[in-house]
Amino acid sequence: MILGDSELRELGFASLGENVRIDRRAAIFGHEHIHLGSHVRIDAFAVITAGPASVEIGSFTHVAAHTYLSGAQGGITLGYGSGIAPFAALYSAVEDYTTGRLTNPSVPADLRETSVGRIVLGPHAAVGSSSVVLDGRHLGFASAVGALSLVNRRVRPFEIVHGNPIRRVGRRPEVDLRRRDDDLVARAAAMGIDVRSEPGGSLAGTS
Ligand SMILES: CC(C)(COP(=O)(O)OP(=O)(O)OC[C@H]1O[C@@H](n2cnc3c(N)ncnc32)[C@H](O)[C@@H]1OP(=O)(O)O)[C@@H](O)C(=O)NCCC(=O)NCCS
Repeated sequence: MILGDSELRELGFASLGENVRIDRRAAIFGHEHIHLGSHVRIDAFAVITAGPASVEIGSFTHVAAHTYLSGAQGGITLGYGSGIAPFAALYSAVEDYTTGRLTNPSVPADLRETSVGRIVLGPHAAVGSSSVVLDGRHLGFASAVGALSLVNRRVRPFEIVHGNPIRRVGRRPEVDLRRRDDDLVARAAAMGIDVRSEPGGSLAGTS
């Protein structure tokens, strides 16, 4: 049930790579603000919103079923090789539940307070099932967020975190991951894809 090549082109994405597989049951808003690399998979019932802020989805990425990428206000960047597991949600704008302001988008905006910031996943970052990432948070190169976690702070490269709120529980093996990353980068280059120059790709150099 994936969209055909001509259907994808007609949707008017800001940019569109090769071998992009989007299930026709995904709900995508603001195509003209969405950049898609190559070898991208977006599964059924994923919801993605963009515009005016951009959503940038790098190559070799996976947006699983029932995910919610709320990028319209603050924007979202998914570096190459990153993945969002089922039922996870990324909110680039978050209503303030703690002050005397009213909440929810049906209430006039001047009565509400929203914090807004781009969410950035470095290359190979993995967000586990049913986790929530709050506005403006960055997940470093090859970091991992366990299932059912609340990401309310930055996650460092290679760091493994889980829980609500997240706490550090380990570190992924840097040498192995860098070796396999180099392999993927070389294979991508052979296909004419420069993943390191994609949005979020430069985070590959950090540790
Ligand atoms: C975070 C994670 C990577 C840790 O894996 P691990 O190191 O093998 O963890 P363990 O199973 O050895 O558990 C270590 C401890 O953390 C706890 N724990 C593990 N994952 C947890 C999570 N997501 N939230 C809260 N606690 C968690 C375990 O209960 C255990 O606690 P204990 O020491 O008190 O017994 C893994 O549990 C996880 O959540 N993976 C994501 C799965 C997912 O969503 N995949 C997407 C589909 S592919």
